[in-house]
Amino acid sequence: MSEENGAETLGTVLIAQREPQDQQFVQVLLSTFGKFNVVEANSSAGVIRGLFAQPDLILVDPLIRGDFLRAVELMRRMPKLNHVAIVGLSGDLSQAARVSGKGFNAFISKPFKPESLLAQVWKTLDSQPLPPGDGSPVELNVDIDQIEGLPTLPTVYAQVEQLCADPHVDAEELAKVIETDPSITMKLLKLSNSAFFGFTREIKSIGDAVSLLGNETVKNAVLSISVFEATKDMEDSAGIDRKMFWQHATAVGSAVRFIAKKMKIQREESFTAGILHDIGKIVLDGLFAEFYKGTLEAVESEKQSILEAEERTIGLTHTKLGHELSESWGIPGGLSNAILYHHRPKSSDSDAELASLVHIADACARNLGFGSGGDPYVPTIQPFAMEHLAVGGNDLMVWEEEMKQVIEKDMAFLSAIA
Ligand SMILES: [Fe+2]
Ligand SMILES: [Fe+2]
Repeated sequence: MSEENGAETLGTVLIAQREPQDQQFVQVLLSTFGKFNVVEANSSAGVIRGLFAQPDLILVDPLIRGDFLRAVELMRRMPKLNHVAIVGLSGDLSQAARVSGKGFNAFISKPFKPESLLAQVWKTLDSQPLPPGDGSPVELNVDIDQIEGLPTLPTVYAQVEQLCADPHVDAEELAKVIETDPSITMKLLKLSNSAFFGFTREIKSIGDAVSLLGNETVKNAVLSISVFEATKDMEDSAGIDRKMFWQHATAVGSAVRFIAKKMKIQREESFTAGILHDIGKIVLDGLFAEFYKGTLEAVESEKQSILEAEERTIGLTHTKLGHELSESWGIPGGLSNAILYHHRPKSSDSDAELASLVHIADACARNLGFGSGGDPYVPTIQPFAMEHLAVGGNDLMVWEEEMKQVIEKDMAFLSAIA
């Protein structure tokens, strides 16, 4: 029971029906006879917005405007809102089969008896786990792999990763595995011969590249190329400029590598950390375009950073989604951790080093104007990150010009892999 506008209600129900007369009927039924507080939406994006009214249950026709099954994939990942029950209500019986196994709690077909609808709503609410009082998320164990069309890494990456677990892996063996993927082979050769590595003699084969660059560098290059390959064919977009996005990612990678070198921090994966750090944005932009549009609009209209706008419009950040994705891809823990904590390295319980490097590099790349991270703002650097890496307040200013030149040179990475 809760108090809404002074009246006692049995909870909040978000209704989204296709036909206005159905919407009105259900609204009256639930508010007058059911004593529920009712919130209304008329599209899938509207349901996502309506979640911020913290409904206890959604009563929806899956055929409302937009892709409602996508909306379910999204809301099941929202840490604070994923406990909301979903009941399907539709006159199209085939919808019951379509939504089965997609996270719906129940399905009612039309026509229905008003009392059975109310009974189903009560029953569903009764059996729904309550969110913990402290506001922490309800773990529903919804596997990220269930998201339709989720990018997958080329299989060669997992093989390379496995081989490189043995530090004495034979260069020839490693080369042989990479060569099974022609597209990655071509890009790796192009990259090896680019200004990014700056060798004077021509590298003619992958075997050559492995012996010159070393296993770890090759492994990280294969990972960066693989992630680019995996995400490049997503057709839909909410409006993130992909070219500017990859310029930002490359600049951050370059800046991470630059700062690590200056501070004598040995991190072979430093560049790759920059390439991967915002990968969640590409998935939100590509797969959840219908909902991410509102996020990008909020960046403009509310003058919010993209991270804040994500929290306030879809309740799911690129850091959380990117982290989940990187885990499902089997990406090493340090990188995965940097993806999750690059905006708040202080919260990182392990490997705050790489998260801090990416955090500072992100601000530097934005400050120098390379590409776009999805909003025009330069974030404030957390003092923790500076202290953790022992970077002095003046260092970044002193390094600025040199860093800019290094980033410009490292843009060769992008021309080689794009
Ligand atoms: Fe970010
Ligand atoms: Fe970024």
